[in-house]
Amino acid sequence: FTPKRLLGQRVLITAGPTSEAIDPVRVVTNLSSGRMGYALALEAARAGACVTLVSGPTALPCPYGVERVDVRSAAEMHAQVMTRCAGSDLFIAVAAVADYRPVAPSAQKIKKSADTLSIDMVRNPDILAAVASRPDAPFCVGFAAESHDLDAYAQGKRVAKKLPLVVGNLVSDGLGSDDNQVVLYDDHGRHPLPRAAKTEVARAILEHVSRLMKEA
Ligand code: C5P
Repeated sequence: FTPKRLLGQRVLITAGPTSEAIDPVRVVTNLSSGRMGYALALEAARAGACVTLVSGPTALPCPYGVERVDVRSAAEMHAQVMTRCAGSDLFIAVAAVADYRPVAPSAQKIKKSADTLSIDMVRNPDILAAVASRPDAPFCVGFAAESHDLDAYAQGKRVAKKLPLVVGNLVSDGLGSDDNQVVLYDDHGRHPLPRAAKTEVARAILEHVSRLMKEA
C-alpha cells in the first residue's frame, strides 16, 4: 500500500549523467548510474503523480507509469526541462550534469600525435538554478553529492540556488550502489535518513517533500 501523497501533482525529474561530445567517438561525462533519480520517478508515479523523467544516458529501463525523455548533453537536458517546467508542481534535479563542455567538438575523430592534448571547455547552464529562479517556479529539490564537508556544501547550494530542500550524500555512500545514506537540508535544519535501498530512500524523500509542499 502506497499512500497517494502526490495525487494529481505534475513532477519533473532529471536523472543520470550528461555526456558532452569531444569528437564523434569521445565524450566528457560524470559517474552516475541514474538509480536514485529513477527510484524517485517510480515512487512519485506510485504516489499518484504524473511524472516526466528527463534522462541522460543510463542502462536502466523506463520506470512503470513514467514518461521518459532521453537526452545526451546538458544543453539538450536544459532545453527539454525549460519547455516542460512551466506546468510542473515539483522539480527534482537528480542528474549529475557535466559542469563544462568542450567549446568546439570536432566533426572528425581526433588523431593522436602530440604527447599532450588540451581541450577548451565552457561552463554549462545550471538547469536547477534556471528553473528555481523563474517567477512561476515549481517546488524545487536539489541534490548535492560531495566527497567531503557535506553539510557546508549542501547548505551552500541550497542558499545559492534558493531551494527549499537539498538532498545531500557523500559519494562514498551512494555512487553506483543499490542503497544510499542521505541527509535532507531545509529551512528547519538537517534531517539525516537511515541508510536504506534507493527505493526506500526515494519514498522517504517524497514524504518529506509532500509535507514541505503542504506547508508552503
Ligand atoms: O552545483 P552542483 O552541480 O553541485 O549542484 C547540484 C545540483 O544542481 C543537482 O541537483 C544537479 O542536478 C543540479 N544541477 C543542474 N544543472 C547543472 C549543474 C547542477 O541542474 N548544470
